[in-house]
Amino acid sequence: MKIKNICCIGAGYVGGPTMSVIAQQCPEITVTIVDINAERIAAWNAGDLSKLPVYEPGLDAVVAEARGRNLFFSTDVEAAIAAADMIFISVNTPTKTYGKGKGMAADLKYIELCARQIAAVATGDKIVVEKSTLPVRTAETLKSILHNTGNGVGFHILSNPEFLAEGTAIADLHKPDRVLIGGENPEAVQALVDVYAAWVPRERILTTNLWSSELSKLTANAFLAQRVSSINAISELCEKTGANVDEVARAIGTDSRIGPKFLKASVGFGGSCFQKDILNLVYIARSYGLHEVAHYWEQVIAMNDHQKRRFADNIVQAMYNTVSGKKIAFLGWAFKKDTNDTRESAAIYVADALLNEEANIVVYDPKVSAEQVYADLDYLGTRSPGENRKLVEVVTDPYDAADRAHAIAVLTEWDEFKAYDWHRIKDHMMKPAFVFDGRKLLGGNDLPSIGFQYYAIGE
Ligand code: UDX
Ligand code: ADP
Repeated sequence: MKIKNICCIGAGYVGGPTMSVIAQQCPEITVTIVDINAERIAAWNAGDLSKLPVYEPGLDAVVAEARGRNLFFSTDVEAAIAAADMIFISVNTPTKTYGKGKGMAADLKYIELCARQIAAVATGDKIVVEKSTLPVRTAETLKSILHNTGNGVGFHILSNPEFLAEGTAIADLHKPDRVLIGGENPEAVQALVDVYAAWVPRERILTTNLWSSELSKLTANAFLAQRVSSINAISELCEKTGANVDEVARAIGTDSRIGPKFLKASVGFGGSCFQKDILNLVYIARSYGLHEVAHYWEQVIAMNDHQKRRFADNIVQAMYNTVSGKKIAFLGWAFKKDTNDTRESAAIYVADALLNEEANIVVYDPKVSAEQVYADLDYLGTRSPGENRKLVEVVTDPYDAADRAHAIAVLTEWDEFKAYDWHRIKDHMMKPAFVFDGRKLLGGNDLPSIGFQYYAIGE
């Protein structure tokens, strides 16, 4: 089987960058990315590449190279499915907000809709690839829908989980640690191996059975999140004992068995994957009656929730036990630097806790829009949209955010924050001028000697 035409359903943070790189690396394959969100597709097609709906360093250059050549963005989902021999499903799989498994299980309604649409349109054999993060055995659901509602054509289902991290997606896609492909049909697996082999060394392309592939994705994210929660647990102990969490991380990270990555203490992990995938793992374990397994992984999330709450509590406590009516400037809203994605960002929960204490918040983030900040707060449902707009201001100049602020809280590790004129910032703040560094970003800026009351996680 040689793949000539790929369709990807879902033009989001996963589908957009991944398919752009496949198109860039495989000029002989036509790649069409479709989405029901017409606004999003229009943004992907915009002449001005700074307007792409996903901000990722290097993505604009990849899109510029391939778009219009063999990379297309469209809202015509059916036409793209009909023309493709391989279909990637990259739609969103949020945590359920209703019914059984509410707050835990993945909501698979978008996946099911895709499967039904593929089955309805396909008139020839197709390879269907799960790209979205999914619970184990979702392929079973896909298989059942495709075979029961289809036109009698053949479907092969593959699992090909995405391991890219936002902010470094293009580099991760160009040089992946590994590509994982799970499947039952050897020819279908080989067809996808051949796509990646255009630029990924063969020994980095791992093949497994379907269920191992699905479970590996959840496991990888659970292990990564667990490291962050582990170092965050130690950060609290550091604050009590006089140890410094960065020094502890360096000391343990030089043990080659532990390794140096993912040991940066922070205000808490965010992003669309970690929490969702662990909740999924917990839900699946519990549904098999594996209560100890479920409880074990649940603690990774409990620790993360504690870290976010603790950061907000420390702010209140340090500011004489009240932030009521005080202005607190947030530097950063995205869940990490170099992305405009705010899903599950710690900033949202810290803001909510401080708003409960009647603080006024001013947000500056280099890539996040005011509408997004308000949408994130409104989504919590803890106060009315009107109130959120009254209590929270979003500005486009960091110095405006800091002007007459009682405190600054660093929520995202954007590099530009280190380059600010911190003397100027202090001069315009209320005194004493507090900085709460949730990312341990400004240690090199010597803020105490400028006159700030400087608090960093884990010191
Ligand atoms: C993650 C996985 O890394 C990726 O393989 C998977 O495909 C999707 O989920 P992503 O969510 O984009 O990627 O970002 P990641 O770099 O993993 O960071 C997740 C969160 O953990 C961020 O909020 C980040 O700030 C935080 N983090 C990460 C820490 O607080 N400390 C660290 O040492 C590392
Ligand atoms: P991810 O981070 O997994 O890429 P996103 O939410 O960024 O998630 O992107 C998922 C995209 O999938 C959204 O743009 C959404 O509009 C699209 N989508 C969801 N369901 C369908 C569907 N049935 N057909 C086409 N696109 C869909």
